[in-house]
This record gives sequence, structure tokens and C-alpha cells, in this order.
Amino acid sequence: MSLTESQKSLILSVAKNDMETAKKWAVVCCDEDNTQKSAYFVKDCKELLQKATNPFELPSDIKNFVTAENASEMFNANRYYLSEREHDVSERIMKMAKVARRLKEMIIPYRNATLLFGESGVGKTTFGRYIAYKSGLPFYYLNFSTIIDSYMGGTSKNIAKVFEFVAQNPCVFMLDEIDSICESRSSASGNGSDKENNRITVTVMQELDKLSNDTILLAATNRIDRIDKAVLRRFSIKHEVKPLNDDEKFEMLDTFLKDVGVDFSDTRKKTILSESTNQSGVINRAVEEIAAEILSDLEQ
Ligand SMILES: Nc1ncnc2c1ncn2[C@@H]1O[C@H](COP(=O)(O)OP(=O)(O)OP(=O)(O)O)[C@@H](O)[C@H]1O
Ligand SMILES: [Mg+2]
Repeated sequence: MSLTESQKSLILSVAKNDMETAKKWAVVCCDEDNTQKSAYFVKDCKELLQKATNPFELPSDIKNFVTAENASEMFNANRYYLSEREHDVSERIMKMAKVARRLKEMIIPYRNATLLFGESGVGKTTFGRYIAYKSGLPFYYLNFSTIIDSYMGGTSKNIAKVFEFVAQNPCVFMLDEIDSICESRSSASGNGSDKENNRITVTVMQELDKLSNDTILLAATNRIDRIDKAVLRRFSIKHEVKPLNDDEKFEMLDTFLKDVGVDFSDTRKKTILSESTNQSGVINRAVEEIAAEILSDLEQ
């Protein structure tokens, strides 16, 4: 059996005597082992390693605007419907992560960056969590609409601090609602807030150029038309997440209902689907139906 990419990264870090990075890769290797055979060993080692370096504990100067999630524990894959389109792009992202690690061995910087675009509620943010789950890496989530600082220059500093932290931890890094700050500079009118927006956009570009090969970068927007062209160019994969078609929505609903242990008739499922335009709508309608059923049981 050949070494996995994470095992190779672990060995390389040990060879370079970079024990901090080695410990982080050791945690990733533990997360990748889902056999019962080594379950106790993995659990014990993970506890020890995480005491030494906890990638989910954020430094105090960034924890107000970034969240760190352990997707291996928090993401419920049994409720996630992976369409063929998203399956294909996820495979590509994972392959590029391997390519990036090989290039790192050759000391060639490489950015594995994907921009997800599409209307609200089609599952862009959820897909980011799925990639973290699939890769076994920590999920760092930065919502650009919450990082705006009222002090001039403050936002750029905050962004730089976040990228600095991310560069030290192999991870899936998600920049959500990227349009809220990386607006096209050509549309700027030259007033104070436009100048601040330009400064932030330039900071983001500079930071994107310094990303580590160990970062899987994802960004999401429902306004791709608004994003600065130079920022757009830095994403090698641009993937539109589309609303599911009727068959896919049916399968998605079935996947969800099976996992929650609820059985709806086909007619009821069809009604839910006819009232929902996208992924988010299907889940929300299904939850409303389940809630109504629980309520009626309670009232009987
Ligand atoms: N493929 C999927 N499988 C299961 N549930 C999904 C899927 N896609 C979306 N959902 C459901 O829809 C909800 C909304 O999805 P999400 O927040 O990822 O959409 P979005 O595209 O990021 O929307 P926005 O542009 O408004 O941020 C999720 O919380 C989840 O319940
Ligand atoms: Mg979203």
C-alpha cells in the first residue's frame, strides 16, 4: 500500500524538523483513518496531538471574524446530496490538493483556489463544509460581510492577520460573500469608501498570492458580476452551483428524510418539491412539514 498524500506531508515535515506542521498533518492522518482496527490508537494520539496544537483554537485577534469548524465531526454527510456536477468539481479540487503538495516538495508555490457562484440557497457554503469533511482538514470560515471595520485600514489589517494564521495550518479556507468587499474597482466613484474598498481588494489579492500550497481555498458569491476582475483571475476553478433539477431534488429530499427517520408519501414529497425552487427551499419545506407533524402529535 502506498503512502497517502497526508502521510507524505507528515514525513516531509518531520524530515525538515518542522514539528508544528508535522503535528497538524498527524491529526489529518488520524482523521483519515476510519477503520475500527486502530480506533483507540487514533483517538489517544489525536487527543495528545490536539493538546499540543489545536487547529480549532483561534488566536484572540482573529476569533471575532473567523470560525474554525471540525467538519469530520460536524458535517452530516448522510444528509448531504452530492449532485454529479458537485461530485466532479470536488474530485478536481481534491486532485489539485495533491498536485499542490507535490509542487510544494519541488518548492513551487501553488494556489488551489475555487470560486463557487450561483444564486442564494443552492448550497455553496454547504459545499465548502463538504470539501472540509472530505479532505479531513479544518474548515476556516470567513464571512466578508462581517469583517468590515469602521476604522480606515482596519479591515485590511484584519484580513492580513487571518491569512497569516491560515498559512500556518493546512486547511480548507472559505471566503464567503466575497462580493461584499472585492467589488470591481472600475465601478468605483473615488469617494472615501471606494478608496477603502480598493485598499481591501488589493490586500486580498496580495494575500491570495502568498497562500500556502496546503490551503484549499474556496470563495463563494451570488454576485460574480460584481467581483474585481484581478481577484477573479486568481481562482483557477470557477464553478456555478445550480439549483437541482426535479429528479435531483427528489433524491435530495429522500436522502434527508431517510437520515432523519421520517417517511412521507410520494404525493407529499411531490408537494414539497413543487413548492421549493432550490436546495435550501426543499430542506426548509421538509422541516416545516416535520415540525407540523410533531405539533399535531403533541396536540392529540
Ligand atoms: N446539496 C445539499 N444537500 C443537502 N442540503 C443542502 C444542499 N445544498 C443546500 N442544502 C441546504 O440548504 C441550506 C442553504 O444552503 P447554503 O447556505 O449552502 O446555500 P448558499 O448557496 O450558500 O446560499 P447563500 O448564497 O444565500 O449564502 C443548507 O443549510 C442546507 O440545509
Ligand atoms: Mg452561503
